[in-house]
Parts: sequence; C-alpha cells; structure tokens
Amino acid sequence: DTEADLKPRPPVVTVMGHVDHGKTSLLDAIRHTGVAAGEAGGITQHIGASVVNINGRQITFIDTPGHEAFTAMRARGAQVTDVIVLVVAADDGVMPQTIEAINHAKAAKVPIVVAVNKIDKPGAQPDRVRQELVEYGVIPEEWGGQNMFVNVSAKQKLGIDDLLETIILQADVLELKANPDALASGFVIEANLDKGRGPVATVLVQRGTLKPGDAVVAGTSHGRVRALVNPRGEHAKEARPSDPVEILGLSSVPTAGDEFRVFEDERDARKLAEERALR
Ligand code: GTP
Ligand code: NA
Ligand code: MG
Repeated sequence: DTEADLKPRPPVVTVMGHVDHGKTSLLDAIRHTGVAAGEAGGITQHIGASVVNINGRQITFIDTPGHEAFTAMRARGAQVTDVIVLVVAADDGVMPQTIEAINHAKAAKVPIVVAVNKIDKPGAQPDRVRQELVEYGVIPEEWGGQNMFVNVSAKQKLGIDDLLETIILQADVLELKANPDALASGFVIEANLDKGRGPVATVLVQRGTLKPGDAVVAGTSHGRVRALVNPRGEHAKEARPSDPVEILGLSSVPTAGDEFRVFEDERDARKLAEERALR
C-alpha cells in the first residue's frame, strides 16, 4: 500500500486481566449490555468481539477470559489489538493473569491503558494497584511513566466516560491506518460449528473490505461468503478495517488465530486451502 491508499481506521482494543476482575462487566457498562450476568459460572470462556460508537468514533472491543486455562486466547487477543485495557480489581490488586497480560502486551508491543476497577468496594486501594504495577514496568503518566490509568467501577458505572476518552487519546497517538480498497485480509478471532448455520468464523478485518460473495480462505477452510453478520446479529453489506464480523459459507471450521484472505478467483482460494491442508 502507498501512503495515499491508507485511510484512518478505528482502534481495536482488547480487554485483559485476572479472572473476575471485571472485564466483561466493564464492557457491559460501556455497551449498556448484560453479558456477564448470563455467563455459565460467571466465567468468560471465549473471545467476544463488539463495536461501540462514542460521539461518532468507533471502537472495536475484544473481551478475553481471565481464567488461567485460557492463555492461548489471551496471547491471540494481544496479537490482533492496537491497545490493551488491563483491568485490575482495586480490592485484589496484581494477580498472576494480570502479570501474564502485561507480558503478552509487551511481547506484542501494544500500549496498556489500566482500568483500576471495583473502586466502589470498601477494601479498594487504587493507589496500591499503581504501586504494584510499577514493579512490572507499567508506570502511571503522573509518576513519569508511559501508561494512562483510570479508576472505574463497572458496577456503579463510575469513570466509564473517562476510560473511553483515555482509550481514544491513546489510539489517536498511534495514528491507525489501513487500506480499505483492497482484497480483505485479517485474522480468525474464534470459530465454531453452528447447528443451523454451519461453520461460523468471527474474523477481524485488518485490511481491505470484506463483502458477501467474496472468495475467502481461512486456514485450511475456504468458500464463498454466504453472509456477513455484525456483532449486533445483523446482516452486513461489508466489513471494513478494524470491523469484527461473522463469516458464513466456509467449507469447514477454521482455527482461531488463522489468517484469512480474499481471492479474486475462488479456485485460488480453494487451491491455497488444500495446499495448507496437506502440510
Ligand atoms: P472472567 O472473564 O471470568 O475472567 O471475569 P471478568 O473479569 O470478566 O469479571 P466479571 O465481569 O465476570 O465480574 C466478576 C465479578 O465481579 C462479578 O460478580 C461482577 O458483578 C463483579 N464486579 C465487576 N465489576 C465490579 C465493580 O466495579 N464493583 C463491584 N463491587 N463488583 C464488580
Ligand atoms: Na467472571
Ligand atoms: Mg469475563
């Protein structure tokens, strides 16, 4: 892509942190939804993508599980994102998966915004969280470091606007761009076999514009896009850079983390998928 091909694109923001520190609740507060309350055992077990609009500015959010079993999902979440929101409960402080998330962010060279959550709790010590994080190289700007911190309560919806403004500030520094006028490509965030709909892959478009009818390959799976479904469950005419979208019409279920690519010619897509399957 030449400089002229590149157009501003929305930020992709992955929410990470220790189990039950309030990642999904924070996203619920941002989206005015109630996902956390409906989760089996109160535990997130998959990567969830959603889109919010803040004063006409889009932010794509990716939720991740905090349970220690889901290291691979967190690593993938860090690899596809522009900004990480690290959620740390103010009553619990820095815990093993907090540290793990910091390591993923560093490995992927992604900036961290810290949301110090649960400040409504009697035992909350938001300044202690700041002190603890210094040891891991996550240092508040007000202490001369590189990281923006925001105190929030997902439960009482405190500090939510401040957090969103901070995320947009951090994203603006990055001057995110992509070429929307190209054959689409990106990554599979998650995929499953749906009883009624067949193989369904949630992808994050990183370049180009994905449309129904496109010939696509995702890992060893291929096909023509039968339909695109946005995070609100609506059929979409297209998905542009930084948009998460479900693809229907694939030949099989791809693997999370697989790259996807659109081809001009469906035969080329099938050929690449078959070559990959032989490897
Ligand atoms: P995993 O995805 O399983 O790692 O958990 P999570 O980080 O998404 O946390 P979740 O949103 O499931 O919240 C865990 C528990 O903390 C729930 O019982 C929430 O109601 C509670 N909680 C979340 N945010 C707050 C908060 O700001 N204040 C208080 N008091 N409780 C909160
Ligand atoms: Na939870
Ligand atoms: Mg969760």
